[in-house]
Amino acid sequence: MSMSQDDLKRAVAQAAIAYVPTDCIVGVGTGSTANCFIDELAKIKHKLRGAVASSEASAKRLQGHGIEVVSLNDAGTLPVYVDGADEITRHLHMLKGGGGALTREKIVAAASKKFICLCDASKLVDVLGKFPLPVEVIPMARSYIAREIVKLGGQPKLRDGFTTDNGNIILDVHGLQIMNPVELESILNELPGVVTNGLFARRGADVLLLGKPEGGQTIIL
Ligand code: 5RP
Repeated sequence: MSMSQDDLKRAVAQAAIAYVPTDCIVGVGTGSTANCFIDELAKIKHKLRGAVASSEASAKRLQGHGIEVVSLNDAGTLPVYVDGADEITRHLHMLKGGGGALTREKIVAAASKKFICLCDASKLVDVLGKFPLPVEVIPMARSYIAREIVKLGGQPKLRDGFTTDNGNIILDVHGLQIMNPVELESILNELPGVVTNGLFARRGADVLLLGKPEGGQTIIL
């Protein structure tokens, strides 16, 4: 019997626990896959010093399980950061931010030694960009950034009624075929008013745990 997408998320979340050192502070992502990982962390919480959360939502879920949430400023360098992705390539370049937590995710990931990405096979792609690329923007820069994105060949759409944990807006960019994610990540981040964008290519994942429908995981390093 093949596993449902939820079963796959649970299975990769369980497998990720092996990458969490004893007595550490672990970096925790955001989204439905990260939620499965948080639920698995709860089972080993006596072996953890705490967690740094990449969103208010993940912080709440961690606290709900009685796991101490530590601020990144107090935690120092983290041994591992565990998160999902909206798309990932075999080069371990990711497109993230479907849940709108991209900026804090990128910060916590940057402060971590290892990025463990958890995905089911549907997220593995040859070229990033079918999933709209989220860009977090300071509200007053919205129209300017939208015009610049059109010049780059994308179609920006305001994520309606959504404000990030940092008080900003998200433009979801449709219609991109991202042949060079490392370059596009920098080009977008250099536009004044962009806080960050959902390409995680300059610093990609270190390990991908890819859930297989028949059970088990493919590990891509
Ligand atoms: C949130 C993210 C998530 O990692 C991404 O959206 C994947 O979410 P899910 O695990 O629910 O498919 O980047 O900002």
